[in-house]
Amino acid sequence: DKGGHRHWMAKEIAEQPAILSDTLAHYLTPQGPALPDGVDFADVDRIVMVACGSAYLACLTAKYWIEGLARIPVEVDVASEFRYREPPLGERTLAILVSQSGETADTLAALRYCKGQARILSVVNVPTSSIAREADVTLPIHAGAEIGVASTKAFTAQLAVLAAVALKAASDKGALDAAALAAHAADLARMPALVAQALLAEPELQAIARNLAEARDILFLGRGAMYPLALEGALKLKEISYIHAEAYAAGELKHGPIALVDEHVPVVVFAPSDALLPKTVSNMHEVMARSGRIVMIGDADSLQTGGDGLWRQARMPQGPHLWAPLLYAVPAQLLAYHTAIAKGTDVDQPRNLAKSVTVE
Ligand code: M6R
Repeated sequence: DKGGHRHWMAKEIAEQPAILSDTLAHYLTPQGPALPDGVDFADVDRIVMVACGSAYLACLTAKYWIEGLARIPVEVDVASEFRYREPPLGERTLAILVSQSGETADTLAALRYCKGQARILSVVNVPTSSIAREADVTLPIHAGAEIGVASTKAFTAQLAVLAAVALKAASDKGALDAAALAAHAADLARMPALVAQALLAEPELQAIARNLAEARDILFLGRGAMYPLALEGALKLKEISYIHAEAYAAGELKHGPIALVDEHVPVVVFAPSDALLPKTVSNMHEVMARSGRIVMIGDADSLQTGGDGLWRQARMPQGPHLWAPLLYAVPAQLLAYHTAIAKGTDVDQPRNLAKSVTVE
């Protein structure tokens, strides 16, 4: 039952505050992370994260968190490359496999490759799935069944679990003291309410989407953990609206993609008021100087800093910068959703796509 929503995707987007609260309740206390026995990073000196699609982008986001908080090097791979490259692993390597369905063929094959060579942790939505059963330890994301082909609530629930994993890694490594750990945990616990506030920007995002629907190509930019989010925004948009979209780390713009910029190519920028904002704003100016049309998604402070000359903007609540990807996932989803509605495409079952890719 779609609960009064027109599409499963709309329902699943709207459910996120409640689901994130529930997911975090499984893995977080006011003191810090609460993960099951067997998740211990004390003697882990390298992490490899492997997944496909949006789950891969959740891993790319978590790399910023784990490396930043725990100082453990993290490599992230798409499963189809990892499994055939057969990278060297080792006793002190932890492999983390992330999959909503737990049945994605390439991710399962990657897990089987890791067996006997590294410790294996899986982060899945379906606890009875193959990937859950074959891992040494499994962390369910508790998102409930996800029906829309475009992943939404599973993506943010994966982020929530991986955020708790990053805090646990930092704690095990002694990289954060108890006070810092509790402060980050308290910030993380605020995210479900902030996501609920972000959902209130839907009318602005819907209006922007009507403009985006007229474009043939769209660029997405972000820096730091907003870069994987830009990739997620572009993936979601392509998937359901069939508009060509590409994402770049904002600093890469002048190494090639800026050649694409003209008044016909909207450029969506995810830019909270974090330490990298001045750099992102200068990239936005480079785009505007070439008649590019910027859609800036920011908070009150960043919109004030970067606001001049914008084509469109949408305002997110001000929140903890570290966990901003959880918040900015919402406008990424809603822009894609409303662009698809404006184009009249099949939102829940886009052409050529299956919910679960169980063949190579
Ligand atoms: O079930 P999985 O998480 O392993 O699926 C991975 C991808 O197929 C999936 O995230 C896909 O990219 C989504 N349709 C993205 O919205």
